[in-house]
Amino acid sequence: MRGLSGKVLLLTIIFVMLGEVLIFLPSIANFRIQWLKGRIAQAEIAALAAEAAPDQILSSDLRSEILMGAGVLVVSLEKGESRKLALRSDTDFMIDASFDLRSTMWYEAVTDAFGAMWAGESRVISVMDMPPNMSGDLIEIALYEEPLRAAMFRYAINILLLSIFLSLLVAGMIFAALNWVLVKPMQRLTRNMVEFGRNPEDFSRIIKPGAGRDEIGIAERELHDMQTELATMLQQKNHLAALGLAVSKVSHDLRNMLTSAQLISDRLSDVEDPTVKRFAPKLISSLDRAIEFLSQTLKFGRAQELPPQRELLELRELADEVIETAVVKTSGRIRIFNRVKPGVVVDADREHLIRVLTNLKRNAVQALEFLQGERPDAPDGVITLDARREGSVAVIEVRDNGPGIPAQVRERLFQAFQSSARQGGTGLGLAIAAELVRAHGGDIAVQSSSDAGTCFVITIPDQVRQLRPGRSGERKVSLKA
Ligand SMILES: Nc1ncnc2c1ncn2[C@@H]1O[C@H](COP(=O)(O)OP(=O)(O)OP(=O)(O)O)[C@@H](O)[C@H]1O
Ligand SMILES: [Mg+2]
Repeated sequence: MRGLSGKVLLLTIIFVMLGEVLIFLPSIANFRIQWLKGRIAQAEIAALAAEAAPDQILSSDLRSEILMGAGVLVVSLEKGESRKLALRSDTDFMIDASFDLRSTMWYEAVTDAFGAMWAGESRVISVMDMPPNMSGDLIEIALYEEPLRAAMFRYAINILLLSIFLSLLVAGMIFAALNWVLVKPMQRLTRNMVEFGRNPEDFSRIIKPGAGRDEIGIAERELHDMQTELATMLQQKNHLAALGLAVSKVSHDLRNMLTSAQLISDRLSDVEDPTVKRFAPKLISSLDRAIEFLSQTLKFGRAQELPPQRELLELRELADEVIETAVVKTSGRIRIFNRVKPGVVVDADREHLIRVLTNLKRNAVQALEFLQGERPDAPDGVITLDARREGSVAVIEVRDNGPGIPAQVRERLFQAFQSSARQGGTGLGLAIAAELVRAHGGDIAVQSSSDAGTCFVITIPDQVRQLRPGRSGERKVSLKA
C-alpha cells in the first residue's frame, strides 16, 4: 500500500465511489418523482372513471376499491375556476407534507428524496401536478408515503449493489491501465536505479532505454546517459588509482636501485681518466636528482611538484648541462647546439628548468630518430637551444628540424596522458613541462611546427621581489612627472 500501485488503487477506488455517489443523488430523486407521477396518472384515470358514473354517485365500496387500485387516499381535479373533489376515501388522515411537482428544483428534488427516506413510516403526503392526460389544470392527490419509501429503498439497494459491482470493475480496469502505463515503467526505473547504485561500475547494470516518447521514455534515456557517464568516470578513476599505486611501487623500488647506482658511481670520482673526471659529477648529480624526485613522489603519494626554489641561473651553463645528458643513438646523425649567449640569465628553479628542457630535448631527439628510421635519406638532425632576455622575461627556444608535431595531438599537447602519438610514449612529458613552467608564472607554447621542424618557446618572467622594508623610501619618485 505504501508503493505507487497501492496509492493508485486507493485513489481509483475513492474517485470511482465519489462518481457513483454523484450519480446516485439525482437518480434517486428522479426515481421518486417518476414514482409519484405514476401514482398521479393512475389517480387521474380513477377520477375520470368516477366522473363517468351515472350522476357521478359511487357506492362507498366501489369508491374505496377504485382508490385502493390507484394507491391514493384522495384525488382532486381542478378545471378552470371550479375545483371539484373527485374522490375521497373514508379513512381519516392528516397531511404531513405536501409537494408541488410543477415547480420542483433539482436540489429540492434531492432533499425531498432524502426527506422521504429519513421520514417515519406513517407519513401522509399530498402531491400536486399537471394532470398527465390533460383532463384539467391541476391534479392533487394524497397518499401514504410508505410504499414510496419501500420502493426507494429497494431501488437504492439495487443501485448500491450495481455501484459496487461497477466500481470494482472500473477501478480494476483503471488500476490495470495505470499500472501498465505508469507504475510498471516507474518500478522498472527505480529498480534499475537501486540495482545500479549497488555497483555503479558494472556496465551490464546500465538501463536499456525503451523506445517510448513520453516522459518516462525521456527519463530512461537520460538515466542511461548518466549511468554510462558515471560508469565510465568510475572506471577511469579506478584506472588512475591503479596507476597511482603502480607509480608508488615503481618509485619505491627504482629509488633503491638508483641508490645502489649512486654508491657505485661515487667510486668513479677516484678514476683519473679525464673523460670520466668530466662526466662523473654530472652522473652523480643526475642520480641525486632522480633519487630526490622519487622520494618526494613517494612522500606525497602522488607526483605533486614542490613550489619552485627560484634563483638567477646562467642559461648557457644550464643548456650545456642539458645537452651533455643527452642520450643519442650511436648513429651520430643528431647534433645538439647551444646557441645561448653568455650572460643571459633566468630566474627559475634549477631542477625544474632542467627537467623542462630535458623533456623538450628528448621529444626532439625521439622525433628525429623516428624520422631517420623511416626515411634514411633525411638530412642530419639538428637541435638548437637558444635564449634571450626581453625586459624582465627570459625567452628560451628549443628548435629542431624534425617531422613536426602530428596534427591529431596538437590540440591536446599539454594534457596529461592525452597527447602521445609516439609508440611507447605516455604523453606526460609536455604536460609535466607545462605544469613546471606555469608554476613559475611563465608559459610554454609551440611557436611553429611543420615538416621543416618544430620550435617550442618557453617564457619565464622574473619573480617580483619585494623591496626590503626601509629601503623603498630611499627611491626618488617624482610625482610631478
Ligand atoms: N619536437 C617534436 N617533434 C615532433 N613531434 C613532437 C615533438 N615534441 C612532441 N611531439 C609529439 O607530441 C607528443 C607528446 O609529447 P609528450 O612529451 O607529451 O609525450 P611523449 O613524448 O609521447 O611521452 P613521454 O614524454 O611521456 O614519454 C609526442 O608523442 C610527439 O608525437
Ligand atoms: Mg616526451
